[in-house]
Amino acid sequence: MDEYDRRHFIRTSLPGFLGLTMALPGLNAIATRANACNGRLAEKQPINWDAFLEAVEKEASRQHLDDWNEAAYVARASLLCSRLNLKDEHLLKAFKKAHRGLGNKRVDFEPLEKQRDFHVTLLQFEKEEAIPHHNHPEMTGVILCASGKIETKNYDLLPDKMEKDHVLLQETNHDFLKKGVVSSLTSKKRNIHWLQAHETTQLVDIFAPPYNKERIEKSSWFDVDPEPFSEKGNPRIHKAKKR
Ligand SMILES: [Fe+2]
Repeated sequence: MDEYDRRHFIRTSLPGFLGLTMALPGLNAIATRANACNGRLAEKQPINWDAFLEAVEKEASRQHLDDWNEAAYVARASLLCSRLNLKDEHLLKAFKKAHRGLGNKRVDFEPLEKQRDFHVTLLQFEKEEAIPHHNHPEMTGVILCASGKIETKNYDLLPDKMEKDHVLLQETNHDFLKKGVVSSLTSKKRNIHWLQAHETTQLVDIFAPPYNKERIEKSSWFDVDPEPFSEKGNPRIHKAKKR
């Protein structure tokens, strides 16, 4: 049997639900929150978790169209992330739940939402914890820093042929993400990245399309020479070896 979460229940049973709201003002408030992305709230007003998911679902579903534009999608998804109300009850619960992982000396992953076209995951790092250089094959990623401070570097894979298992990576971004700051990658641009927390940090990641068996198998990890071999003033190009 299919599983239906609270958000889909609200959406799929709307006529009956609207009837109930006449008698139950509390439920009406929930309906308003869930429909925030349909113009019932001001453009720049923070959006709650349900409205956020509904809007991301709509944007991510476009990936099946011929005119799918990854760059435009990550721009729109980044905007949605910047509007997400980080004090939403659902998120506060998830942030608190993730605290159970504090002290376990590894990055924690908490699934927040999984759909056909995207998934959202909460990542929690403690100070100095890092995720080594890796790619996201044929995927886009939008990363919202919900708390803390984390250093990130992104790279483009260059087409130049190297000896077996070696590649050239051009460093395109070097950022320090703080609360409310969003980073993104597409299948072609900034697709490879590295992250290291400077303090306890929580990130909300959207990946579209979501990871599946094939994309996990295609994923690569890299050992990257820390010093670029390109000369000063030129794009920073690093030699790297696929693990
Ligand atoms: Fe990643």
